[in-house]
Order: sequence, then structure tokens, then C-alpha cells
Amino acid sequence: MNVLITGGAGYIGSHTSLEFLQAGYNVTVIDNLCNSKQESLIRVQEICGKDITFYQNDLLDSAALDKIFKQNSFDAVIHFAGLKAVGESVEKPLLYYNNNLTGTLNLLECMQRHNVKKIVFSSSATVYGNPLKVPITEELSTQPTNPYGRTKLMIEDILKDLYISDPDWDIALLRYFNPIGAHHSGKIGEDPNGIPNNLLPYIAQVAVGKLPHLNIFGNDYPTIDGTGVRDYIHVVDLAKGHLKALEKLLTSPGVVTYNLGTGKGYSVIEIIEAFQQASGIEIPYKFTHRRAGDAAEIYADPTLANTDLKWTAQKDVLTMCKDTWNWQSHNPQGY
Ligand code: NAD
Ligand code: WQD
Repeated sequence: MNVLITGGAGYIGSHTSLEFLQAGYNVTVIDNLCNSKQESLIRVQEICGKDITFYQNDLLDSAALDKIFKQNSFDAVIHFAGLKAVGESVEKPLLYYNNNLTGTLNLLECMQRHNVKKIVFSSSATVYGNPLKVPITEELSTQPTNPYGRTKLMIEDILKDLYISDPDWDIALLRYFNPIGAHHSGKIGEDPNGIPNNLLPYIAQVAVGKLPHLNIFGNDYPTIDGTGVRDYIHVVDLAKGHLKALEKLLTSPGVVTYNLGTGKGYSVIEIIEAFQQASGIEIPYKFTHRRAGDAAEIYADPTLANTDLKWTAQKDVLTMCKDTWNWQSHNPQGY
């Protein structure tokens, strides 16, 4: 079976490409490398001893996309390509709307032209915004609080409309919670550009001495220790969720939506403690003001994915931190 993975050189895409190769799929990746390096795919191939067909192209280039679809015969698409930094999306909304929406529209038009009608889309827990209750089920109202989150919700709506127009489509909307960790080999992992926005890459860079200390954004939330609580999920568990989602699409379910999380919330302080235990390194931190737009507590109810996809996240927070540290300590400068 031939799978096209857009954004496959990125953090989640590289781990997912590996899982698909190991499961026996043929993998083709399209990535413009705007937030990744081709080295990630070279390492994926080294880990599993299988080849990836790679095209360095932009989804905004529909002529290039069409050529790739003519040269290949895809059975399904796993669509990761997009920009994902919340703060940057507030500063550059047009960049985000253009890249994420136009890129997706080009992809969908191309898929339609070539009669490829199965797609797994990387949505996000960010579509729930500041949730009215936790744990979050898929029916909870969606109200994203920033342009990035709105691109995710708009793409979900576009895909639902596409299905209404043509029920031959099969579409999985996967709402990821907070992916962290790395493949246990330590060869692939998260390699953000510049100073990381997200908690784990920031802690990992403090641990290798690239950053002096962690700023904890708020210690006055109504949580167990006052710091924000999130549902951290191992990136390899998340990658395996995509295999299960594609298997589901092969049963022609129409549009399906799943939360991919563990169902457990951990505070910032609990994550620091787990990372210290995993690495043996002390992480200096300072409390600072809350970050605009942050919610107190966000964690999934993953029951639907557990039952419908027969998928459950397996790896605990200590393993997530050990694998993050294994990657970061062996690759202090990233790829
Ligand atoms: P990433 O930035 O590492 O990967 C995205 C990849 O897409 C990058 O390799 C980038 O070069 C590529 N890309 C971006 N725009 C492109 C375009 N126009 N054409 C071709 N390639 C393009 O991010 P990630 O963390 O691996 O996230 C993958 C997907 O999952 C994204 O859609 C993201 O919004 C979504 N997501 C991520 C998280 C998270 O916390 N990492 C959480 C929820 C959802
Ligand atoms: C986690 C916790 C922070 C950094 C983001 C996106 C979301 C999704 C996942 C894509 C919070 C605290 C963080 C730091 C801190 N991505 N923190 N100091 O905000 O839950 O989710 O990534 O779809 O859309 O918003 O993740 O890792 O940034 O923060 O104290 O330097 O760590 O306040 O409580 P977040 P995060």
C-alpha cells in the first residue's frame, strides 16, 4: 500500500514515516523543509533499513503536487504539513492562513483529481480552546483562541464539507494533545528552530546547557501545584495512532474524529520532576507571569480512540522524558 506523508520530515511526520515503513507500507514524503531537515528522513531509513521517496516541494505549488501524483499511485495521504507556532500565528496570521489553508486546498484538489480519497489530518486539541470541562470528549464545543487553532478548525470543516459533497471520501480528524518524547534509538526527535516555544524542548535545552533556566508561566492556576496541566503523549504512541486511523479508513467510515491523548494530566512541576529523574540533571526554574491564552488544565478523554481504533497510548511520562533526554543528549545541536 502506497502512502503519501506531507510534512513527513518534521517531528511527528518523521516518527510516523518510520512506523509506516516498519508496518510494511511504501512511504513517499513531500516536505518543503521550512521547519525540518532532510537528515530526519535519512535517519528514519537508517533505523529501519527501508527507503523513502522524498520530494522537496511546497504544498503551495500545485503544479509540482500534480506532477508527484502523476508519477505515483497513492492509496492514502497522511497530512502533517503546516505551520504550528501559536505565537507566530498571532503575529503573522496571513502566513498561517495561506500556508495551512491554501496548502491543504491544493492537496485536496489534487487528491480529488487523482481519485485518492482517504486522508488522515493532523488536527489539534487547540481546536477546543479554553475547555469548559475536562477530560475533553470529541463532542465538546470548539472555540480556538488563535489563528493557528482556527486554521485547524477551518480545515476540519473543509474536510467535512468535502465528505458531504462526495461520500466516497474517508477522513480521519486526529486531535493531538501534547506530543513529546522521541524514538528510543535517539536518532530522531524534536529539533525546533531557535528558542523553543514548548515545554519539553525548552527543558531539554536547559538540561544540555543551551538555556540557563526554565521560565514557568504561572503558579497561580487552580491545579494541584498552581502550574498548568497538560496531557503529554509519547510521539511514538501518536505515530502508531495514525496507523490505526488509516486501518479504520480502509473500512470506509466516512468522517471520523478522535482525540489522541493519554487521558492523564501532568503539571509543569511534575514534568520537571520526571525529567530530572529521567536525566539525573537538575533543571533550574523561575516562576513568571501566565502566558497569554494558556488554559489551566487540558487533558483528553481518549475513550473513543481506545474503543473504535483499538489504540491506547502505552508509554508513561518517565519514558517520554527518558526518550527526550536520550535524543537531546546525543544530538545537542539537533540534526
Ligand atoms: P513540524 O513543523 O515538525 O512538521 C511540519 C512539517 O511540515 C515540517 O517538516 C515543515 O517543513 C512542513 N511544511 C510546513 N508547511 C509546508 C508546506 N507548505 N509545504 C510542504 N511542507 C510544509 O511539526 P510537527 O510537530 O511534526 O506537527 C505536524 C502536524 O501536527 C502539524 O500540522 C501541526 O500543526 C500538528 N500538531 C502538532 C502538535 C505539536 O505539539 N507538535 C500538536 C497538535 C497538532
Ligand atoms: C505546556 C505547559 C505552559 C513553556 C501547544 C499548542 C497546542 C499544541 C501543543 C499544536 C503550559 C507551560 C511552556 C515554557 C512553561 N500544538 N510552559 N514554560 O501550550 O499546551 O500547547 O503545543 O497544535 O496548540 O498551544 O504546550 O508545551 O507550550 O506548554 O511554563 O517555557 O507548559 O504554560 O502549561 P501547550 P506547551
